[in-house]
Amino acid sequence: METTLSKVKLGIVGAGTWGETHAFIYNDHAHAEVVAICDMNLERAKALAAKFNIPDEQVYSSHTEMLNRSGIDAVAIVTPDFAHTQIAVDCANAGKHFIIEKPLTTSREEAIEIMEAVKLNNVRMMVDLHSRWSPLFAIPKQSILDGDIGDPYSAYYRLNDIKWVATDLLPWAAKSSILWFLGYHSVDVLRWLFNDEVERVYSVSRAGVLKDEGVDTVDVYQTILE
Ligand SMILES: NC(=O)c1ccc[n+]([C@@H]2O[C@H](COP(=O)([O-])OP(=O)(O)OC[C@H]3O[C@@H](n4cnc5c(N)ncnc54)[C@H](O)[C@@H]3O)[C@@H](O)[C@H]2O)c1
Repeated sequence: METTLSKVKLGIVGAGTWGETHAFIYNDHAHAEVVAICDMNLERAKALAAKFNIPDEQVYSSHTEMLNRSGIDAVAIVTPDFAHTQIAVDCANAGKHFIIEKPLTTSREEAIEIMEAVKLNNVRMMVDLHSRWSPLFAIPKQSILDGDIGDPYSAYYRLNDIKWVATDLLPWAAKSSILWFLGYHSVDVLRWLFNDEVERVYSVSRAGVLKDEGVDTVDVYQTILE
């Protein structure tokens, strides 16, 4: 029997590098379409909207205005790491489901604030931890579930960015760290593969290279998760 599903109408907040990736992916999906774009930098919002033939009246510089006026079903929050919380809380309070970029927040208190707003308003939310859909990790996960390779016992995981990401790509790098934009994926994948939670963390960091280049953030973290 053939079923007809209507398309989920999405609004994207944050028309930067990754916001554009979101737009391409939704427009490639049979049951999704991007209908509104918001960025506090209106020129950026307009430029992205133009690539997807989104009309001017659905381009916003304020996410609250977009939530109130655009007629969207759901939101993709793709703003810098430190600028997720208020938008997420406002989405939940407006009754909009949302996908939010990792890291959910850069503090525990803000994460709790989002979770409370989500529960209170009974909306659905998801953090974009898409490594779980990457064959690199999905195949070993399936092998574990099928009993082919036994239970994982210990693992190491390394993710590196080149220095350019912090010095040139992300203007907000000093307000986040490699722990947030890469470490977050590592912890998620390991919890998922082990099907277990972390009990204790020991971490050592080193700073200096980026600080010397004027980006006030840490260079590396080496962490043991028990
Ligand atoms: N899941 C992944 O693998 C992955 C990959 C890349 C980036 N990200 C995440 O995506 C997010 C965005 O990263 P990016 O590289 O696109 O950053 P970016 O700096 O290229 O773009 C962010 C955009 O958000 C806008 N913005 C900031 N505050 C806003 C606000 N309050 N309202 C509306 N717009 C606002 C900025 O003007 C900018 O255009 C970050 O959290 C990053 O960690 C995730």
